[in-house]
Amino acid sequence: YRNLRVALLGAGSVGAQVASLLLEHGDELANRAGAGLELVGVAVRDLDAPRTANIPRELLTTDAESLILGADIVIELMGGLEPARTYILQALTSGADVITGNKALLATHGPELFELAEQVGAQLYYEAAVAGAIPIIRPLRDSLAGDRIKRILGIVNGTTNFILDRMDTAGESLEVALATATELGYAEKSDPSADIEGFDAAQKTAILASLAFHTTVPLDAVYREGITAITIEQVDAARKAGYVIKLLAICERMTDADGVEGVSARVYPALVPRSHPLAAVHGAKNAVFIEAEAAGDLMFYGAGAGGIETASAVLGDLVSAARRHVIGGPGVAESTHANLPILPISRVITRY
Ligand code: HSE
Repeated sequence: YRNLRVALLGAGSVGAQVASLLLEHGDELANRAGAGLELVGVAVRDLDAPRTANIPRELLTTDAESLILGADIVIELMGGLEPARTYILQALTSGADVITGNKALLATHGPELFELAEQVGAQLYYEAAVAGAIPIIRPLRDSLAGDRIKRILGIVNGTTNFILDRMDTAGESLEVALATATELGYAEKSDPSADIEGFDAAQKTAILASLAFHTTVPLDAVYREGITAITIEQVDAARKAGYVIKLLAICERMTDADGVEGVSARVYPALVPRSHPLAAVHGAKNAVFIEAEAAGDLMFYGAGAGGIETASAVLGDLVSAARRHVIGGPGVAESTHANLPILPISRVITRY
C-alpha cells in the first residue's frame, strides 16, 4: 500500500518517544492506518544533545525546512511560538497534514493556522496539546458535537496539581513540592512560572473553551491566577471545611446581566468539595469534568504530562491523519463557529 513520509520536528521528551514508538511499532500502526508510515527524519537544534530515547543518528538533521518539503505528514513537537509557527505554516502550504502538541502556539495563533489548513485542504491535529495522554480534543469536537456543553472544570496542569496535593496530603510547603515536581520532570523545564502562575493552564483553557463552545476564545480573554499565593494554612482551612484547593480551568456558558449568552474562561485556585470526583485527582494526574445538557456529567482522567504518555496522543493523531490520506475526503470537519461573545471577566468570576 501507499507509503506516507512522516517528518518529526523536535526530539525532546515527547518527540523522542514518538520517534522511538514509531520505529518500534510502525508496522502495526501502518496496518491500522492502511498506509506505510516512514519516519523520514527528525529535525533537532543540536545533533549531539542527550535524548530520552534512542533515535538512529542518520535520521537526525538540523535542516527542518528541507525535511518539511518532502513530507506528507509533519509532527511538530518543538514547542514555543517561533520557529514552530513558521514551520507549521510551511508544512500546510506544501499540502502536508500537521500534528502538533504546541498549546502555546494554538492558544496564540490557532485561528491563523486553522484558516490556512482550511484554505489548502490540509488538516491540523492537536490531541496532545491539552491534558497529555487524555483523549479530550476528539470527544469535545466529535463525540459531543451534538450536545450543548454547559461547563468544563479541568485539572489541566500536572505540576500545580502535584504541588497542591503534596501541600494537602503531606503538609509540604509550595517551594519544597515544586522542587520535587521539577525533579520528577513535570514542571516546564524552561520556566516553572508557566506552571505555577497558571500560564500553561490558561493556554489549555483557551483551546478547550474554543472547542466546547464552537467559537474562538483568545488567550488574553482567559482570566488567570496561579497558585503562588496559596499557603499551607489555606490548604488546612479548606480541608477542615470539607474542601480541597485545586487549580481549575473553568470554561462556562453564561448569560450576562443584559441576557446576552457568552463564554467565560478562567483559571484560578478554587475550592472543590471533597465529594466531587475532581477532588480524587492526585499527584500529577489531570482530569477534565464536562457538564453537558443531554449527556450529563462526564469525566476524562489520566496522565496530563510525560513523554511516552503524551506520545500516545500524537501517534493516535498520526493514524488518523494517515487514514485520511488513504480514504481521501475532507477529514474531520471543524465545527462551525457560533461566535459567542466573550463575557467581560469582571462579571463572571464566581468561585466554584
Ligand atoms: N508542565 C505541564 C504540566 C506539562 O505540568 O502539566 C504538560 O503540558
